Amino acid sequence: MNKEEAKSRIRELTDEINRHNYTYYSLSNPVISDQEFDLLLKELEALEREYPDLLSPNSPSQRVGGEVAREFSQVLHSNPMLSLSNTYSIEEVEEWEARIHKIISEEVEYVCEMKFDGVAIGLTYQQGLLIQAVTRGDGIQGDDVTANVKTIHTIPIHLKGSGYPDLFEIRGEIFLPHSSFSRLNRIRAEEEEEPFANPRNAASGSIKMQNSAEVARRRLDCYLYYLPGPDLPFATHYESLQAARSWGFQISEYIAKCSTILEIFEFIQEIDELRKGLPFDIDGVVIKVNNIRQQEILGNTAKSPRWAIAYKFKAEQAETRLLSVDFQVGRTGAVTPVANLEPVLLAGTVVKRASLHNADIISALDVRIGDTVYVEKGGEIIPKITGVRTDLRPADSVPIKFLERCPECSTPLVRAEGESAWYCPNRTGCPPQIKGRLEHFISRKAMNIDSLGEGKIEILYDNGLVSDVADLYDLKQEDLLGLEKTYVDPASGKERKVSFKEKGVANILKGIDASRSTGFDRVLFALGIRFAGETVARKLAQHFHSVEAIRDASMEELTDVEEIGEKIAESVTEFFSKQENLDLIERLKNSGLNFSVDPDFFRYKGTELEGKSIVISGVFSRFSRDELKKMVEAHSGKNTGSISARTSFVLAGENMGPEKKKKAESLGIPLISEEEFLRMIDRE
Ligand code: IVH
Repeated sequence: MNKEEAKSRIRELTDEINRHNYTYYSLSNPVISDQEFDLLLKELEALEREYPDLLSPNSPSQRVGGEVAREFSQVLHSNPMLSLSNTYSIEEVEEWEARIHKIISEEVEYVCEMKFDGVAIGLTYQQGLLIQAVTRGDGIQGDDVTANVKTIHTIPIHLKGSGYPDLFEIRGEIFLPHSSFSRLNRIRAEEEEEPFANPRNAASGSIKMQNSAEVARRRLDCYLYYLPGPDLPFATHYESLQAARSWGFQISEYIAKCSTILEIFEFIQEIDELRKGLPFDIDGVVIKVNNIRQQEILGNTAKSPRWAIAYKFKAEQAETRLLSVDFQVGRTGAVTPVANLEPVLLAGTVVKRASLHNADIISALDVRIGDTVYVEKGGEIIPKITGVRTDLRPADSVPIKFLERCPECSTPLVRAEGESAWYCPNRTGCPPQIKGRLEHFISRKAMNIDSLGEGKIEILYDNGLVSDVADLYDLKQEDLLGLEKTYVDPASGKERKVSFKEKGVANILKGIDASRSTGFDRVLFALGIRFAGETVARKLAQHFHSVEAIRDASMEELTDVEEIGEKIAESVTEFFSKQENLDLIERLKNSGLNFSVDPDFFRYKGTELEGKSIVISGVFSRFSRDELKKMVEAHSGKNTGSISARTSFVLAGENMGPEKKKKAESLGIPLISEEEFLRMIDRE
């Protein structure tokens, strides 16, 4: 295909993909399968790779986002991005209407809409093309987040239809639908990262990320609700939204024209009912004067337009009694107060426990045991106590005393300056902290020792066999055989006994042994450094290549790494400043765990293994099994799990299972050592 042909094919593909994006994301009515769609996109990407100068920044291929890190540039808003004044009762809406009628004597029509709870965005289009997307910022200037916004499929890059101004701005709200929010928090929990408190925080964090490929994975969405003037070809706000819909923007279906306060109130009630079932969060209704000429007459105050107002819903709330407070000690030693409540129905679920956050909040609320309290679910994952009915306080109510000593090990609690949480400092002697670290160490995303799962760690700990993660690698068969534990099965309520027999013990030891080949990034994650989740650990490993380099890195060198902010860097520095942690790493190193990665590891690529199907088995000395798997892929080979006649060779380490060995031999499949393998791909 010559360049001219490529150009016209790119145009065709662009139109077609945009059309499918629209039918899929905006109309929820796809007309082709995902595979067919991917084929079109792949064809487009291939052409754009071949002819890089034909790649337009508005190409639909750019929606998947790029890896480039960038600082956002600041952009002045051509019309300041104002906020809305809030009302909480219909009387306040009436007062607003009365103020309007002092200025405008003719009839006024209103448009009522949902108030989306996300982050405001201003999109600028020139000749039907999205050229810029800017956040609110301080209302005067905001961040240019165009690349991130282009990953949102309901925002058109090319407009459809006709009649749009040559240059105009449209504003709306970017938000995270509930489904995307729960998915994101599930992933974050697995990666031991702090979950987002609510979809709004998650949306605002997402839109400001440096890596737009990651933004694309978050699955944000957007509703548009306002075209700021001055020179718009419309007489009313309502018309402008209808036109915007015809150009391909996602405009809510829930928009009502109202002439009286009663109609406004009915709309508010309808939406309040509806919102419990919506797939995204709204926090109220916005009421706007429909006629644009009247809007101009009314004008703005310094902060908000006089022609629009928000009616905010009350957060869903219930009243119940506070029965008691538990104090929980986590893996990091943080002590969290949790309220036990008389069960109460709130927003569709029965609530029995609520967060009391920390000592400061307890005293600010002046909440006591026996009090009737308000619980709210304002978008947060765990309901929280937001107030106390002091008028209903019983005479025998008991103030909550925050503990002075750890509920598990009686060590006096400490509080770091500027932090609200109290900690048990007894890292090495406080059972839930030790058990928590062990559980974390063996978890799937860390060392993945599942033969120690299901409470077995607890048995080892209770019997004094392990008190830190390095002890795991000293365990011997005779330590484990015959260990027992009785517990009450929560399902049946009956007492049950587990005991360690020969086969189980062998399995445990095998799992521990195999974990020695876990890659450095996961070993680093397994150490449980505060705030260093799976992604952070990977970034650190890829950047510094060895534990010594991380240990010696300055704050600046740490914060230079993508996604590592000050809080994480401080925590890493603190971790490596403690002798006990350095000793632990030394012991783990001596047990054969990986504390470094070949710096060139990810850069090598080749085709030496093309067409080869490879099984990796056993424990290796230089690389972890995961790393070897990646190398196979980087050199165009295919990893397979089990040996068959089609296997090209087995990359065999130490302790390869005898069954596998026998099978390979009987099929005549060669066994290759780590050294031979590295020579094969020219890595020696
Ligand atoms: S109109 C100048 N309409 O709420 C007024 N805003 O608290 C332009 N919001 O800044 C805004 N839904 O970020 C408008 N249907 C809606 C809205 C809406 C949510 C946001 C917007 C605004 C904030 C004020």
